[in-house]
Amino acid sequence: MASQPGGRAQTHLACVVNGDPVDITCAGYKTLLEVLREDLGLTGTKHGCELGECGACAVLVDGEPVLSCLALAVECSGRAITTVEGLTRDGRLDPLQEAFADLGAAQCGYCTPGILLTARALLDRVERPTRDDIREALSGNLCRCTGYQQIFEAVESACGHAQPTLRRAQRGPEPVEGPRTSACGSREAPEGSEAEPSRRARAHGGGAPCAVNNAGRGDHA
Ligand code: FES
Ligand code: FES
Repeated sequence: MASQPGGRAQTHLACVVNGDPVDITCAGYKTLLEVLREDLGLTGTKHGCELGECGACAVLVDGEPVLSCLALAVECSGRAITTVEGLTRDGRLDPLQEAFADLGAAQCGYCTPGILLTARALLDRVERPTRDDIREALSGNLCRCTGYQQIFEAVESACGHAQPTLRRAQRGPEPVEGPRTSACGSREAPEGSEAEPSRRARAHGGGAPCAVNNAGRGDHA
């Protein structure tokens, strides 16, 4: 570790992020979350509580979910890191992202990157998880908007339990409505308007900057 003027130690970080080698010098005190967002510009990883409580910052390190707000970046030297940006391959969304978009499992989208990555790790480990498996895997990921039902259905859909189009048909047409207030207190424009971020953009990890600052774990019942 080298020092820089002001006494803050710099450290060297060599790892693989979303399949690409990364070799940077960064402040030794920085968390993985800070390095991803501030040094690498990967802002799909969300900054929530910074206390290990909300799951918004979850990424995969060597395929396992890690709360990036609690991990020092230097601890990840030599490891393979996947962020939500890395779920898209050759321009194609991960089946989980498709299912989240199709089933309305992303609303404000702030929790979505962490949930997608945590669910991806589950599906890579268990081919057809039960609802209880999914609930347990996502128990550390808080969502203020969806009530979790659509999230669980989307994960099940992505592993082949159900067809998204079938479920959408069962729910009936999407309601057409005027501006509404989200659980974050912000006004949302009607679906399809220019001001409304598309569901696919949100499932891709483009959440609105609404604060997720809860303490405690999700009740996901
Ligand atoms: S920001 Fe890391 S768990 Fe909340
Ligand atoms: S969609 Fe989960 S916090 Fe808004």
